[in-house]
Amino acid sequence: MDSIVVTGNGPLSGQIPIAGAKNACLTLMPATLLSEEPLTLTNAPRLSDIRTMTDLLGSLGAEVSTLHNGKVLAMSSHHINNHMAHYDIVRKMRASILVLGPMLAREGHAVVSLPGGCAIGARPVDLHLRALESMGAELELKDGYVHASTPSGRLTGGTVEFPFASVGATENALMAATLAKGTTVLKGAAREPEIVDLARCLRKMGARIEGDGTETITIEGVDRLNGATHPVVTDRIELGTYMLAPAICGGEVELLGGRKDLLSAFCDKLDEAGVEIDQTEQGLRVKRRADHIRAVNVTTEPFPGFPTDLQAQMMALLCTADGVSVLEETIFENRFMHAPELMRMGATIDVHGGTATVTGVRTLKGAPVMATDLRASVSLILAGLAAEGETTVSRVYHLDRGYEHVVRKLEGVGARIERVKAQ
Ligand code: EPZ
Repeated sequence: MDSIVVTGNGPLSGQIPIAGAKNACLTLMPATLLSEEPLTLTNAPRLSDIRTMTDLLGSLGAEVSTLHNGKVLAMSSHHINNHMAHYDIVRKMRASILVLGPMLAREGHAVVSLPGGCAIGARPVDLHLRALESMGAELELKDGYVHASTPSGRLTGGTVEFPFASVGATENALMAATLAKGTTVLKGAAREPEIVDLARCLRKMGARIEGDGTETITIEGVDRLNGATHPVVTDRIELGTYMLAPAICGGEVELLGGRKDLLSAFCDKLDEAGVEIDQTEQGLRVKRRADHIRAVNVTTEPFPGFPTDLQAQMMALLCTADGVSVLEETIFENRFMHAPELMRMGATIDVHGGTATVTGVRTLKGAPVMATDLRASVSLILAGLAAEGETTVSRVYHLDRGYEHVVRKLEGVGARIERVKAQ
């Protein structure tokens, strides 16, 4: 297993290009199952999760060609010749559950493995299943698989009430509703930019959708969808992650393609902590106003609140802030696994349940640390950028799921960082 070695090297300067969003691409790709016509995605990120979704769609009979060094995904689901998503692929990536809605809507039946949990939580899919049942699906759980079917051969429009704004359940229901007979109303829907991006793509394919980006989405089902070409929206989590690099070790960095509207709550928090963020022609320019960051309190919430996917990275910043910060993680039940690793670097963090209290220290000290999940891994790299000495982050396969060319992007702004191949 490879590791990444980071050595604190002072202020950064330069530009970092931001890629297409992993979490948009992972819901846009299954949308190909809704149509016999080709669906082409541009600005796709080059990530292992995208390769996993490619393999999954391929196992169902879809063709996915990766062009232009992986930035273009040309997909065609003219023939779906297998209706079962196997456990051995689904267990590697929870987003695999997103083939269920489209496959059921297009084919009238689907068998998808339950994804199982992951490091950050149990992550059930009950809301996905209830949403599809509200559209007339019949579901049976057997041997760890969901066997879904539509007795009438087609989903029927209905009203779906989400008890809380689940991103994936909203995406599954939205895709399924595009081909249902009649009108579907999603109440309490998630509002993330990735859902708006999916709706934009589905409308290009001929879907009739209103209200995406709000908590009520209305879909008029159609008989069939066409193909389309669609650019994947900028990755706001990669954007926020790299915005924290100059915040944690000084200097000034411009994030190409960055937009404040994708991260308004996060930008407000950084402003409160003493970080200056300016929208430029090319993206976002970021630098801290003074030598040290002010402590701030953070509570993660569904969009438009502070993103849970930036909580670990923000914690790394607050480890060297002046004062005490309190972080509340309200979305996942076990998303502080980066805390003990940051404490190996000299951080002072007290974790109780969903609350982490961080008392800032003057400097962190480089140390060998272990990545435990995708966002925790990059939090440790951020801490290493600011630490005295050398930090070795092991198990970087977690990182490869969600960040393309991390070493190249950070080297490009002056970081001392290298990837060490496993012996
Ligand atoms: C998406 O996961 C993202 N993944 C996650 O990003 C992100 O953290 C999450 O949304 C929240 O923003 C992708 O888009 C591929 P949820 P998802 O359904 O859809 C519970 C990353 O680092 N829940 O909004 O799985 C669930 O357990 C990843 O890129 C149910 O109880 O998130 C969690 O506690 C990590 N029943 C909470 O809701 C359900 O049926 C939020 O989950 C579904 C979810």
